[in-house]
Amino acid sequence: MDLEAARERLIVALDVPDLPRALSAAESLADHVGMLKIGLELFVGEGPKVVREIRERHPTLGIFLDLKLHDIPNTMAGAIRSARSSGANLITVHAGSGVDHLRACVDAAEDALGILAVTVLTSQDANACKEAGHSRSTEELVAMRAICAREAGCRGVVSSAHEVSKVASVAPGLMLITPGIRPAGSATGDQKRVMTPAEAIAAGSTHLVIGRPIMKAPDPAAAADAIVREIAEAQVNHDRS
Ligand code: C5P
Repeated sequence: MDLEAARERLIVALDVPDLPRALSAAESLADHVGMLKIGLELFVGEGPKVVREIRERHPTLGIFLDLKLHDIPNTMAGAIRSARSSGANLITVHAGSGVDHLRACVDAAEDALGILAVTVLTSQDANACKEAGHSRSTEELVAMRAICAREAGCRGVVSSAHEVSKVASVAPGLMLITPGIRPAGSATGDQKRVMTPAEAIAAGSTHLVIGRPIMKAPDPAAAADAIVREIAEAQVNHDRS
């Protein structure tokens, strides 16, 4: 796979608290990654103008609004309608409430925005799922939610790379987005179910979400470039196998 195609698969989590820091990170990463992910910290702090400002400065860069919406279908649909004109390409919603909630979001998006269904957070391990009252294994839970996502017409599914091959088998044809990625040697932080970029691509991920290993690197653009090279190489090996 060429480096340009590999770059499209790298999504950087712009986990910073304010607009100036977001714009400065976007400026240094724009030519090195495919998409920027705007999460709750930045969106709650700055509102939709952060999406508009990045969109204006970097028109070809993908913008992924990671708001992980979770509410009654009517309220979720309203939030999706509000986000539709923001300039974002993708938005996340929790898949745990079932297919009706997801369908309400897909309908409200009217193809202007791709809906991504978050299955089980990568910070939750088997024990955390049990504590939350789930009797099924994490993999079963992820698979059930991925099936709902496909049925509802979601664009993609967010899961840990540990479940991605299962997701690919039950929900083929969707974007398979995996956070919880750690290049060899970097700190795990609060993520519990992690893989390296090469392992995640080998497992079948189509897109990787990476935050701290890039954002906190001494040279974020160079860290992104190294990951892009790893993705390209892993994809070639994956296609060969
Ligand atoms: O810094 P790190 O690479 O752990 O960042 C991962 C990003 O992916 C964070 O912005 C986090 O909110 C997000 N995320 C996640 N697990 C999910 C969905 C999103 O870690 N299941």
